[in-house]
Amino acid sequence: MAEMKYRVVVAGLGKRGMHHALAFQANPRFEVVGLCDIDVGRLREGSARLGVTETGADAAELARRLRPDVFCFCTLPDVRLAMIRAGVEAGSRLIAMEKPIALTSAEGIEIRRMLEGAGVKAVVSHQHRYGEHYRKVKEMISSGALGRIHTVYGTATGWMMHMLSHLIDYMRWYNGEAEAEWVLAQAAGRSKLDDAHPSPDYIAGFIHFANGVHGVIECGAGAPDVPDVDYWWRKCRIGAQGADGFAEVMTGGGWRAVTRQGAVSGGGSMNYYLDMPPYIQQIADWLDDEAKPHPCRFESAYRGFEIMMAMCRSAAGGQVALPLESGADEIAMLRAAVPQRKVLLGTAASAKEYGG
Ligand SMILES: NC(=O)c1ccc[n+]([C@@H]2O[C@H](COP(=O)([O-])OP(=O)(O)OC[C@H]3O[C@@H](n4cnc5c(N)ncnc54)[C@H](O)[C@@H]3O)[C@@H](O)[C@H]2O)c1
Repeated sequence: MAEMKYRVVVAGLGKRGMHHALAFQANPRFEVVGLCDIDVGRLREGSARLGVTETGADAAELARRLRPDVFCFCTLPDVRLAMIRAGVEAGSRLIAMEKPIALTSAEGIEIRRMLEGAGVKAVVSHQHRYGEHYRKVKEMISSGALGRIHTVYGTATGWMMHMLSHLIDYMRWYNGEAEAEWVLAQAAGRSKLDDAHPSPDYIAGFIHFANGVHGVIECGAGAPDVPDVDYWWRKCRIGAQGADGFAEVMTGGGWRAVTRQGAVSGGGSMNYYLDMPPYIQQIADWLDDEAKPHPCRFESAYRGFEIMMAMCRSAAGGQVALPLESGADEIAMLRAAVPQRKVLLGTAASAKEYGG
């Protein structure tokens, strides 16, 4: 007997929305039954490409009408809570969303409350972790080859609302998803505060985890070059250091490690078309079986989101304890606190984005 197919509506048909819609459509466990975008041209193009005729510009109306099992949205970060509400009110069993979870902790807390209240599952697209090079580093850490881990770290030249939630997610994964207890951070540069992904140009700081491991993180203009990688957006390095060595992944350029056995390295590069299929498959696995929670589930991604928001608060002043107890508007806090001075760069390759 053919397995039942989960019905999916996708809202927001830009770059990531099309990645999601095509990956759902390519998986025999899913059927894309509806598409939504406020841009008529994108909607027409997506509908023709996927052969889906149920379309609309109003996501809540479309979801109410089609009542999909999975409601997926891939809008820019300014649209979040209304989409969660649309999925919940349509009776969806799972909401698949893009990072970041929200632009402020006030919105993130409200989203969590709404999902928990309705008992709706959710996943957040931190899909880089499916890359063979990301997994290799995880394997090296788990094998014990690095000895006792004391530090996890991540750097990215891209700005915070694009990149920080990715860095934190993979650092948390490499650290066994330990709880964070506090953060301390600094921020500089105002040129991206009004971007569609609003961010300080540069944010850097420390995370103290309950298992004693420290996270060291820097994101944006001041982050160092990753010369192994040509493509600027993939100049990211995430890794772990232990008593017996280190292992790190470069988003666009493989992995390397040094252990007591010597130096080893290998290939791999972030690739949407390789990373999306397993991410989508694990959505079906989780819907099929409660005992197979998705590695990118909301509960875990939310812990990373809290760390990001705590770093913003800390950049506005002082050390910040986790978990956050109440909501705030962290971008407004940064607007008030980040000095007018121009940011200083970590690599000349970042001048095209931050000036220089
Ligand atoms: N996980 C990753 O690797 C990754 C990579 C790139 C971007 N992203 C994230 O994905 C999200 C989308 O990015 P993108 O590059 O696809 O953006 P995009 O601008 O290409 O697409 C966004 C689409 O959403 C539509 N939209 C906006 N408001 C809407 C609404 N109310 N209802 C329906 N449609 C609406 C827009 O018309 C547009 O077509 C962002 O949050 C971004 O941070 C994630």
